[in-house]
Amino acid sequence: MTTGMRKGLTSYGDAEFSLFLRKAFIKAMGLSDDALARPIIGIADTYSDFNPCHGNVPKLVEAAKRGVMLAGGLPMAFPTISIHESFSHPTSMFLRNLMAMDTEEMVRAQPMDAVILIGGCDKTIPAQLMGAASVDLPAVVLPVGPMLVGHYKGEVLGACTDCRRLWARFRAGDIDAAEIEAVSGRLAPTAGTCMVMGTASTVACMTEALGMALPGTGTIPATHADRIRAAEACGTAAVRLAASGPRPSAVMTSAAFRNALIVLQAIGGSTNALIHFTAVAGRLGLEIDLEDFDRLGREVPVLVDLKPSGEHYMEHLHWAGGVPRLLRELPDMLDLSCITVTGETLGAAMANAEEVPGQTVIRARDAPIATGGGLAVLRGNLAPSSALLKRSAATASLLRHEGRAVVFDSIEDMTARIDDEALDVTREDVLVLRNAGPKGAPGMPEAGYIPIPRKLARQGVKDMVRISDARMSGTAFGTIVLHVAPEAAVGGPLALVRTGDRIRLDAEARRLDLLVDDAELAARRAGWRAPRMARRGYAALFQQHVMQADQGCDFDFCRKGGSD
Ligand code: FES
Repeated sequence: MTTGMRKGLTSYGDAEFSLFLRKAFIKAMGLSDDALARPIIGIADTYSDFNPCHGNVPKLVEAAKRGVMLAGGLPMAFPTISIHESFSHPTSMFLRNLMAMDTEEMVRAQPMDAVILIGGCDKTIPAQLMGAASVDLPAVVLPVGPMLVGHYKGEVLGACTDCRRLWARFRAGDIDAAEIEAVSGRLAPTAGTCMVMGTASTVACMTEALGMALPGTGTIPATHADRIRAAEACGTAAVRLAASGPRPSAVMTSAAFRNALIVLQAIGGSTNALIHFTAVAGRLGLEIDLEDFDRLGREVPVLVDLKPSGEHYMEHLHWAGGVPRLLRELPDMLDLSCITVTGETLGAAMANAEEVPGQTVIRARDAPIATGGGLAVLRGNLAPSSALLKRSAATASLLRHEGRAVVFDSIEDMTARIDDEALDVTREDVLVLRNAGPKGAPGMPEAGYIPIPRKLARQGVKDMVRISDARMSGTAFGTIVLHVAPEAAVGGPLALVRTGDRIRLDAEARRLDLLVDDAELAARRAGWRAPRMARRGYAALFQQHVMQADQGCDFDFCRKGGSD
């Protein structure tokens, strides 16, 4: 295998000329022959003025470079797409696969012996893991780290659980326009990812458990000196990885994914993570077994007391010992022999965990935040493939509920009618949103957190059963059924629901059913017409090839065995 500057030469039909030309150009950067003879460590730089979560990336790149050079390598930073949740139209999920392809192809195309992937905002680390899995070049993920908490009038604030909570209070008329404006300046007080157990935090913790990030790096606050030292350590680790591996395919095994999914349940993590890790696994030819995942949900207690399921924030989880300390509560469930990018086992990471006397963020097994699973996989005639419910963020009294459907045909329809005083809706009804899935929206936006109709919110209604083929932010809460598959836009049963139908949710039995007989559903299906899809550009590629939620929403041709 060729290494360093010789790797992946541009094809001119003369390999030595290709190398000569490459060196001639790169010497314009002032690099010496000694530098160019070193192992080359790529550093995926995802800084963007549009991505405040990645505001610390320049410092991390600088520290990672220092680590590479201290270990005798040559660091080469290169840009890739950067995706921020609030700056991605129509939705960040629409761009995740584009970033995965960008990462894969840039790592494959450029001469590097290992790569440091700096990511953090929700879709970025999943995209990087997908790319790394497909290239299978030694790689280490460096999360940018969580923000510190915000404060307002003595209250601790966290993006974006409190964004939603306070916006709901504004909608209900509890706080005025001036106050909500003041709050907007306090919710995200530093660089870094959302500091609650949203998708970014969930993915960072799971990436550590998966073995693709150095121990502790999932939780160190973005602004702390330890985060910079962690970047330097990643640089050093990457040089070692370049020499002796392991490669991503040796780290991301079935057992390692299972470890990550156990951590997902134990942290009460984001529903989105299941989609992302299913996509990463698919890149390696591995399947996430939803039955096994649901079983884990019943067996693994929620042990981390973080918003939105609990009380604390990511910086508190870090100072309580972070992921390595959490693993100590679950040794009998985990496969501790899994190898990580440190070259050591997950068990070694756990053994080095810090014990913090009196900490209350990571609960003991016999004193969990919740039992019976953070995430539950539902099935039924409304979700033949599957749907997902975050039980730990739901209202207990609604986990078994039957109600009348109030259907919104699209996000636009919902936006237009949800606050209409004339909307026929009561607190017992079930709100249904469709055509918001992977192909339908497109990009499966985080629209599953259907707002409580304003007239009900004013009456004090805080939660209702809500069902959609969309996703939901990991920072949101409520009795919300998501990821209904197949989605409405491909003719899933969700497309056939009519306002007035009865729907039954039974979370304990893992059922989601539309109480309409088969003959009536067949008649409705005969009259169903598929929505129009995009015909040009990336949108057309996306809608033609994106798979359903239970398959990770990757492109069919990007899965292992799709095509090379
Ligand atoms: Fe970037 Fe929440 S918006 S992590």
